[in-house]
Amino acid sequence: MHVKGKNYRAIRADKKNKSVRIINQLKIPFEFEIIEINSYSELVNAIKDMRLRGAPLIGVAGAYAVWLACVEAIDNKNPQKFLKDAFKNIITARPTAVNLKFATCYIYNKVLIEKNFSNWENVAYKFANEYYEKEIDSFRKIGEYGLEIIKQIAKKKKGKVVNILTHCNAGWLACGDYGTATSPIYLAHKKGIKVHVWIDETRPRFQGAKLTAWEMYNEKVPFTVITDNTGGHIMQQGLVDIVIVGADRVAANGDVANKIGTYLKALAAFDNNVPFYVALPVSTIDFELKKGVGNITIEKRKADEIILIDGVNNKSKIRKINVMPTNYKTDNYAFDVTPFRLITGLISEKGVIKANTKDISKLK
Ligand code: MRU
Repeated sequence: MHVKGKNYRAIRADKKNKSVRIINQLKIPFEFEIIEINSYSELVNAIKDMRLRGAPLIGVAGAYAVWLACVEAIDNKNPQKFLKDAFKNIITARPTAVNLKFATCYIYNKVLIEKNFSNWENVAYKFANEYYEKEIDSFRKIGEYGLEIIKQIAKKKKGKVVNILTHCNAGWLACGDYGTATSPIYLAHKKGIKVHVWIDETRPRFQGAKLTAWEMYNEKVPFTVITDNTGGHIMQQGLVDIVIVGADRVAANGDVANKIGTYLKALAAFDNNVPFYVALPVSTIDFELKKGVGNITIEKRKADEIILIDGVNNKSKIRKINVMPTNYKTDNYAFDVTPFRLITGLISEKGVIKANTKDISKLK
């Protein structure tokens, strides 16, 4: 997608330099910085400190981290042990999004089949790249399926603006390209359908206000940033036609783990008869997990994220300030789980399905 008219992806591997380039998401929208990463542990740190984030993107990063670990393993006294330790460090970088585990295991298992250590690097690179391209293709298809839903609403509204509410950032920054929740929006906008996006700011880290809004701004899609508590009110006023969010892990019964606050939006949508869709690639489905509510590890992050906020000062320098004293007690849950009964449908690369066990099992 575009940044000041130029095309970018959120992550790119450079085979020649044996490095991975990422967009530093901690500095957007104030600075656009590309970081070059040369070791698997550096990439794991970038996942942990959220320079790189979003369920599908951390999956791709996990795949490339296995590649970087293979590059490093060859110079190690015990390459197998090095790779095994790296694998453990990579899959545990963040607990909730299943894509990280899925992609990392996929590449690691491909490498293990190769008995010649010197080939590990090539095997990992080939499969990590293939995985990334396949994901990108899925995001494009999610856009096409989601577009049909937006088209129907536009038709019902006789061409008036379709108001779409989204939470957090399930955009191209979270995926590599197109995004999940945003992919149908970008496509609708490109096709000339009038859309307007309500963007939840998404406390505590403001992925909506900082990242989704920046994406929309660069793609020239009309948007309005709202506080996290506003959605219910504007749904009651008839100002939201559809909610589309992303997902970090979907259980086999259709329960969806996503950024904290998603559940409350689903409740408000249900109460106001607003269709509530979740857009996701199949790599976000945890087919082994029968039920999501109560069974998904919800990441808890540091108190700092609630106590401090960052922004730019009058000299355009990014600075952190306290919004409360550091000794206040906080609880920082990063995700919540929306029960399947509140979800109108799941928009995947294989089509739009109901959030239930029968439909989900067909995606396997
Ligand atoms: O904690 P984050 O920012 O990595 O959260 C992940 C997300 O961006 C979302 O939950 C998102 O809606 C799903 S990823 C397309």
